[in-house]
Amino acid sequence: MSRNQDLLARRAAVVTPGLPRVTAAAIATGHGALLTDLEGNTLIDFTGGIGVMNVGHCAEPVVRAIQAQAEQLLHICIHVATYEPYVALCEKLVSLFPHGERTKALLLNSGAEAVENAVKIARQATGRPAILCYSEGFHGRTLLGMSLTSKTGYKSGSGPYAPEIYRLPFPNYYHHGDGLGLDAFVERELRRLREAFSTTVAAEQVAAVLIEPVQGEGGFVPAPVAYLQGLRRICDEHGILLIADEVQSGFGRTGKWAAYQHYDIVPDLSTWAKSLGGGMPISAVLGRAEVMDRVKPGTVGGTYGGNPVACAAALAAIGVMEREDLNARGAAIGKTIRDRFQALQRRCPALGDVRGLGAMIGIELVEDGDPTRPATAQVAAIIQACVARGVLIIAAGTHGNVIRLLSPLVIEPDQLSRGLDVVEEEILRAFPEPRADRRAAAKVAAH
Ligand SMILES: Cc1ncc(COP(=O)(O)O)c(C=O)c1O
Repeated sequence: MSRNQDLLARRAAVVTPGLPRVTAAAIATGHGALLTDLEGNTLIDFTGGIGVMNVGHCAEPVVRAIQAQAEQLLHICIHVATYEPYVALCEKLVSLFPHGERTKALLLNSGAEAVENAVKIARQATGRPAILCYSEGFHGRTLLGMSLTSKTGYKSGSGPYAPEIYRLPFPNYYHHGDGLGLDAFVERELRRLREAFSTTVAAEQVAAVLIEPVQGEGGFVPAPVAYLQGLRRICDEHGILLIADEVQSGFGRTGKWAAYQHYDIVPDLSTWAKSLGGGMPISAVLGRAEVMDRVKPGTVGGTYGGNPVACAAALAAIGVMEREDLNARGAAIGKTIRDRFQALQRRCPALGDVRGLGAMIGIELVEDGDPTRPATAQVAAIIQACVARGVLIIAAGTHGNVIRLLSPLVIEPDQLSRGLDVVEEEILRAFPEPRADRRAAAKVAAH
């Protein structure tokens, strides 16, 4: 048995199968955008550990900051005593992401925890119980996270779920455009939202609307700009708080620090995790000070949230993002990916939609160009074939038929290009182009 297979067998013996094992890769080390398995094979990483490694694996400043902090203070708990890295990270975050005139922060450990706490804060600040969220949304695997999450595959059998959660259709133009122009589509979706205040839950009961500006697990679907702007206006009209879940879209992934910055809006609250920590588990809720100041002492937090080592790693990761201008890199990588797959889309109707913001690009594969026929099995086969050829990728979307590319933003151009070659070749292997003679015959038959 190979060393990779041996580790997989040991995993199967002692680790719950409740954790999905999306690929058969077994990884020993990672540097930049490259991973090495237990047998010394190199893989190009197009997953970043699900969007965590924007600054690259084992970024040197992050590793050094972890080492230095580990020699000073490993843990004390912010409830017990105040320490510099916690405060310094909050200062940095509120300066990067002002939510109105004054902004405050709360640090936690995971994306799900950030979402949970944002909801608690919104409820306390407004005195209202209800939360509006979206179809195809993903917000984590805690009970409240699952209650807010749409895809049943993530939650089946784990209920009952938390009450006072109401779901709206996400404004996905590719699937629900119904032949309307984008403006008319957005108008219809905003009307639907207003109607929900009469048909589903009264506006004065709603504490917050929770939205991913670009859906992550849902298939890398950006909300239309006019929709988010309209949503901001509707929230303001009704005293409802707007929570932007930036857990997957934050920190350069979309070519800006925050996806919401593409929309010319500012949320009242926002949630962050993943690439914030450069590989360490840390998350944050940011919010307008007037909102954050209404939270009763003792109702948020936890033993480990904002651990000193994780804070030091996050500060170092943000330093890398600033020095290496990862926002610009995210935009450039996104353009490379989009240009390449939009060109492929013109030759291959299976690429139903190529969409996204910056480097958060989803490639939705469907049978015969039909949006209602997800190419789920083919995408699973493409992923396995890419991994076998040394390119680690994963899917997204309710039907698992969206290839999402989440390489570290420090990926070298030749690594990106080699990896994309493999993905493109495997898409074409799964959906062979009609041969020229067959295409010509088909044209003749059609006339
Ligand atoms: C938008 C969004 N919110 C929340 C989460 C949950 O984060 P975590 O897995 O760190 O709990 C995720 C994870 O993928 C996410 O993409």
